Amino acid sequence: MGSTSFSPSISLSPSLSPHSSKFPNPSPNLFLRSHSSFTPLTLRSNQTRYRFKKLPSSNAPNFLVAASAKAEPLKVIISGAPASGKGTQCELITQKYGLVHIAAGDLLRAEVAAASENGKLAKEYMEKGELVPDEIVVMMVKERLLQPDSQQRGWLLDGYPRSSSQAAALEDYGIRPDVFILLDVSEDILVERVVGRRLDPLTGKIYHLKYSPPENDEIASRLTQRFDDTEEKVKLRLRTHHQNVDAVLSVYKDITVKVNGNEAKEHVFAQIDAALTHVGEQRKVNSGSVAA
Ligand code: AP5
Repeated sequence: MGSTSFSPSISLSPSLSPHSSKFPNPSPNLFLRSHSSFTPLTLRSNQTRYRFKKLPSSNAPNFLVAASAKAEPLKVIISGAPASGKGTQCELITQKYGLVHIAAGDLLRAEVAAASENGKLAKEYMEKGELVPDEIVVMMVKERLLQPDSQQRGWLLDGYPRSSSQAAALEDYGIRPDVFILLDVSEDILVERVVGRRLDPLTGKIYHLKYSPPENDEIASRLTQRFDDTEEKVKLRLRTHHQNVDAVLSVYKDITVKVNGNEAKEHVFAQIDAALTHVGEQRKVNSGSVAA
């Protein structure tokens, strides 16, 4: 699959919050737009119906189009219950769109593996299926988002924010995605996916014993299982997810794309790809109408 990048000469600036106080606007020549003029849209892809919010037309009365000499890279948040397929879809999205994949869970597992103070504390919460405290997670994610590669190529944030306080922290820093993808998967499927998941420690690739088996015996022999991938622990993680998901969704409801994640991974990706393509096309339309 080739790499696709969005490169409008004039772009929208939904990633910058007009309410930001702590985070400097990196592009001072941008105008900020209101979030209130989004309208819902329903499309079909591969027989799957999904809804997303259409970006407003350039002549919407309360809409200020942002004009910038430089292209704004794409910013995406992907969310969903444990084992809903976030990591699997992130691999496909980064292959096509070249975004920097930032997974809160992976950052935390790296701390655990390094046996740092933060890692030791994080592991206690991860083993209980609870959220690791904001003091550890918020700065860790923010710092990764502000690295030059994320700023230049755009980012794909996976598993963050998971609570209203984490979402508020992003808003306070003026960090806002162009689109919020929510993978919707039924609970019985989630448990089956967790129990069968395996990881290749050499390549970082995610497998499933039934749905994505390893390509050969050599890979199969080195696969590992995550310490929180048991039926008992996934139920605790699901409870935590249900306690917090609505609060996070309320922050991003205007830019949410709900995707049916019960299907095969290629079909799930087709829905996401269509949504991201739509965001890119809307940027071109809006940039064209500003240039005219
Ligand atoms: P994290 O690592 O983020 O775990 P999670 O949210 O529970 O999600 P998973 O990584 O388990 O699943 P996934 O959605 O990526 O699914 P995958 O693609 O692998 O977090 C772990 C812990 O860290 C948390 O419990 C918490 O303690 C802490 N933490 C993380 N973020 C935090 C935050 N922001 N704040 C505080 N604490 C935080 O797929 C699963 C399996 O299914 C794979 O085997 C895959 O091959 C298979 N599969 C995927 N898609 C399909 C498909 N379409 N069809 C068939 N099989 C599929």
